[in-house]
Amino acid sequence: MKAVTWHGQRDVRVEEVPDPFVQEPTDAVIRVTTSNICGSDLHLYEPLAPFMRVGNILGHENMGQVVEVGSEVGDLKVGDRVSIPFQISCGHCWMCKQQLYTQCETTQVRDQGMGAALFGFSKLYGEVPGGQAEYLRVPQAQFTHIKLPEGPADDRFAYLSDILPTAWQGVEYANVPDGGTLVVLGLGPIGDFACRIAQHKGYRVIGVDLVPERLERVRARGVEVVDLSEHEDDLGDVIRDMTGGRGPDSVLDAVGMEAHGSPATTFIQKAAGLLPKAIAAPLMQTAGVDRLNALYSAIDIVRRGGTISLSGVYGGMADPIPMLTLFDKQIQLRMGQCNIKRWIPDIMPLLTDGDPLGCDTFATHRVPLSQAPEMYSKFQKKEDGVVKVQLKPEL
Ligand SMILES: NC(=O)c1ccc[n+]([C@@H]2O[C@H](COP(=O)([O-])OP(=O)(O)OC[C@H]3O[C@@H](n4cnc5c(N)ncnc54)[C@H](O)[C@@H]3O)[C@@H](O)[C@H]2O)c1
Ligand SMILES: [Zn+2]
Ligand SMILES: [Zn+2]
Repeated sequence: MKAVTWHGQRDVRVEEVPDPFVQEPTDAVIRVTTSNICGSDLHLYEPLAPFMRVGNILGHENMGQVVEVGSEVGDLKVGDRVSIPFQISCGHCWMCKQQLYTQCETTQVRDQGMGAALFGFSKLYGEVPGGQAEYLRVPQAQFTHIKLPEGPADDRFAYLSDILPTAWQGVEYANVPDGGTLVVLGLGPIGDFACRIAQHKGYRVIGVDLVPERLERVRARGVEVVDLSEHEDDLGDVIRDMTGGRGPDSVLDAVGMEAHGSPATTFIQKAAGLLPKAIAAPLMQTAGVDRLNALYSAIDIVRRGGTISLSGVYGGMADPIPMLTLFDKQIQLRMGQCNIKRWIPDIMPLLTDGDPLGCDTFATHRVPLSQAPEMYSKFQKKEDGVVKVQLKPEL
């Protein structure tokens, strides 16, 4: 089959690789109909490169049709239309019973000290082949799937594997009081959906980014926006002015470690990319992946006693955290990968009864696998209005 494979920093290719097949009784194989490129893939594209191996298949936002099943996949059947959550979870361990599917004790990547295995996400998360390909092997398939109704085209359900539940959990974790205000930092796909969800829940929403068309997409839906490129130095003051001097109840950081700013760490990331892997990986785990600009903004902006919710992915342990301010302002901090299936019962009615969140028109690009290398590059550089790319193996 054809698949999008990793070859080095900013180097992904489309190659012929062996077809996947059922290896365990709990496996299924799907024919992929849509696999999106995600902001998380950009971490692999550059800063997390030391954890990747040449030939790794990318892609964790997958949906398609079941073509093969093992003997222990429950009620999953050949022909079912499914979305595949980005995390692989068993559904029956202690963590899964708490709905903490990202911490599944059956699939935890213990040799790396990490949580549940993820599709297409480096050796840190189990080096499981991803779905930017014609076919995908789904381990723990008895639980690692969401059955979808026939009817609406793929666009409607394409974001259930990751960004829609991720944005949902981000807003839930932000713990906004009734009628309260949420600031969303970063208006990429996650931040954009978070704004839509927060609006749907009746909160006042203020979005911050520096890419003109991303600001415009969100403004067009009635969200107040602040252009970071005009307020690099006084963002906190501007937002306090907009919120009665006190600051917003909650801030959602939908940026993560690709944050604009932090030139010193950009240099370390680049330098680490040039080192032999054995040295580069430990360096990246400490100094190399810390880019905390957005988090620092969140700590500054949120009101005293408020909540910061981190959806953006962070790594590293070298940058200082302003503990004095966190403690003094009595800030609550919640974070983590999204426990996808936890939120599906809340979200599904918003997909099957019309399309209030605007999923059908959310993607900016729908392209064949062969255009993946070009799209990774454009998405990273934020060129050509790329916000969300769907790879469609059948095109
Ligand atoms: N928690 C999860 O389960 C989960 C799941 C998927 C993605 N993520 C993470 O969420 C983050 C966002 O993903 P995305 O797909 O929307 O990516 P993205 O890279 O397209 O979006 C990030 C946006 O933040 C903006 N930005 C950069 N620096 C900023 C700053 N200092 N202040 C405000 N905005 C700034 C960028 O211009 C960009 O529009 C990534 O870190 C990704 O890894 C987390
Ligand atoms: Zn994703
Ligand atoms: Zn489990």
